[in-house]
Amino acid sequence: MTSTRTSSPAGRFPAGALAFPHRDLVGIGELQTHEILYILEEAEQWVALNRQPHKHSDLLSGLTIINAFFENSTRTLLSFEIAGKRLGADVVNMHAAQSSVKKGETLIDTAMTLNAMRADAIVIRHGSSGAVRLIANRVDCPVLNAGDGQHEHPTQALLDALTLRHALRARGREEFNGLRITICGDILHSRVARSNMLCLTALGAKLRVCAPPALLPAGIGEIGVEAFHDFDAALDGAEVVMMLRLQNERMSGQFIPSAREYRHLYGLTAKRLALAEPDALVMHPGPMNRGVEIDSDVADLPGRSLITRQVEMGVAIRMACLDVLTRRTRGVEGWA
Ligand code: NCD
Repeated sequence: MTSTRTSSPAGRFPAGALAFPHRDLVGIGELQTHEILYILEEAEQWVALNRQPHKHSDLLSGLTIINAFFENSTRTLLSFEIAGKRLGADVVNMHAAQSSVKKGETLIDTAMTLNAMRADAIVIRHGSSGAVRLIANRVDCPVLNAGDGQHEHPTQALLDALTLRHALRARGREEFNGLRITICGDILHSRVARSNMLCLTALGAKLRVCAPPALLPAGIGEIGVEAFHDFDAALDGAEVVMMLRLQNERMSGQFIPSAREYRHLYGLTAKRLALAEPDALVMHPGPMNRGVEIDSDVADLPGRSLITRQVEMGVAIRMACLDVLTRRTRGVEGWA
């Protein structure tokens, strides 16, 4: 396996378990900036492995990983499954629709059941904010948050940061410092927005968020991001534009007049993208609603859209997280 860790900031991270002292990964809000950077650095070897024809490591051989998804998912579930398998672990997926949750089992009882099966890591997606922390506090193994309600989606933010770092380096820029990023969409309901705001500001980027008034949380300015309702103004000078889906499933009542009007005011069209910096990068965590928050000619723009690259980096980030969080269990020197 080739390693791309030549740029590794040797000595910048605390050694061994101090580099990442957490048992679980529940939110970016629980991490220090150097811990975020450590995961990004660890992911580089997996980016390299995933680009080889033979994409297999035995690092987690003999370990069992349970992906417990209480909410729908395509890329996140697949990404965690591929990540675990590429590391040699036994990976099993539990879909809530086919589980005893449908028979009235409580979340705690489900957690106790998963725990009794002696999983070595549990990856959880759940519709309620805080559910992942609740389970993490009840089980004996590391727990990774694959999205909990409107709260956090930490691996998405980490993969977005890794994607951006690769794109910036390809343009000869090393750091996030001062990078002007505009996130537009359903900020209120988006765990991706929340995790990204925490992650990207920690890395030094200058963040703007843009949404209709009803979809912007109150007090957003207090967390160090600039809030906009006018998308054209929010795009001025942007070097990165991250678009988000309307999370209709989390809306009770009417938050926007219509999809047509939303597109008119907040959709990223080629014309609108021209208001940002000339070479501005485009991101979207998926799933996309083409023709609503983003037009196809922008989503598929060669050299500018990072959307498929985000999916690629997702597998590497999840491999890094699974590796780092299971080091204690595996008795890795300095971590056990
Ligand atoms: C996001 C999610 O589930 O929070 N998708 C993802 O994980 N890639 C965003 C969304 O559902 O809109």
